[in-house]
Amino acid sequence: MTLGHCPTLKEFLTTSWSGNGQLTGLDAVVIAIANGSRQVQEHVQSAALGDVLGSTGETNVQGEIVQRLDEISSNTFVQVLSDSGSVAAIGCEEIEKPVIVDNFEDHSYMVLMDPLDGSSNIDVAVSIGSIFGIWRKTGDGEVTEDSLLRPGNEQVAAVYVVYGSSTVFVVATNSAVSGFTLDSKSGDFSLTHPDIRIPEECPYYSTNEGNFKSLDDATQQAVLNLRNAHSQRYVGSLVADFHRNLLKGGIFLYPADKNRQEGRLRLMYEANPLGFVAEQAGGAASTGYRRIMDIMPEKLHQRTPLILGNKDVVEQTVSIISGG
Ligand code: AHG
Ligand code: MN
Ligand code: MN
Repeated sequence: MTLGHCPTLKEFLTTSWSGNGQLTGLDAVVIAIANGSRQVQEHVQSAALGDVLGSTGETNVQGEIVQRLDEISSNTFVQVLSDSGSVAAIGCEEIEKPVIVDNFEDHSYMVLMDPLDGSSNIDVAVSIGSIFGIWRKTGDGEVTEDSLLRPGNEQVAAVYVVYGSSTVFVVATNSAVSGFTLDSKSGDFSLTHPDIRIPEECPYYSTNEGNFKSLDDATQQAVLNLRNAHSQRYVGSLVADFHRNLLKGGIFLYPADKNRQEGRLRLMYEANPLGFVAEQAGGAASTGYRRIMDIMPEKLHQRTPLILGNKDVVEQTVSIISGG
């Protein structure tokens, strides 16, 4: 990086990925996500002025009220990914069945996405984001829902975007985690956080303390342990809580409780992608009993408990929860 010049995402992908035959066509997927996130960011910024706040009145497959920005983001990313020339199928939080892209036979990747994470924060101008897990398409035949149900340990890359005080785009492969910041003047994402590693220190823990009374005894003990050693920070947007913990050190947990025995967060397009980023940055991701990325998925929208962040503190927390 010459002094003063931060490579753009495109320059970074060209120099870092061009020689790697394993990643052929992956750059087109990442560039498509970047183009889509630029469009979503404009909607996020326009908010009430752009009439994107509030709900559509519809309920999605999750049984949750769909916000206008959920729908706009979903449509935007489906469009740019379908046009990328590299994506065969898309699994999306807002769409019950997978989107099978035209000419899928010629395309190498499958993308599972949470197009707008943190929906409860949209109307109150609090940081929100988008999350993507990228798998290589398996086999040459028909692409069905089962084709997308691959364990997180088969991901080739993961991306998340935070629409916050700045718009940050983070991409992870099995060799590095790199962060880019949107330059609103040029419209480029410029490399601002090369080779992100989660810090050893762990100042923060992030959990919804309102659920404490519903946790089982062992999990309550784990939360008490965290309360005694760390400061509480909880935005209510997974991607924003995770991004802070990734850069400054911290642990995020959304455990199972008696009202949500499977947990609240979704395996395929929240836990797996962020688990991939966490592990590539030296962190860990667990259900409280097993590594997130070893789970063999059974359903596209299945949920999981999630303990995510600083490896040592995740391991300590898991051993208290599981009694291991
Ligand atoms: P989404 O907006 O995609 O449904 O995700 C919201 C998730 C996640 O972002 C956040 O960590 C969690 O919901 C917050 O849940 P609580 O409001 O129950 O704390
Ligand atoms: Mn989400
Ligand atoms: Mn969402």
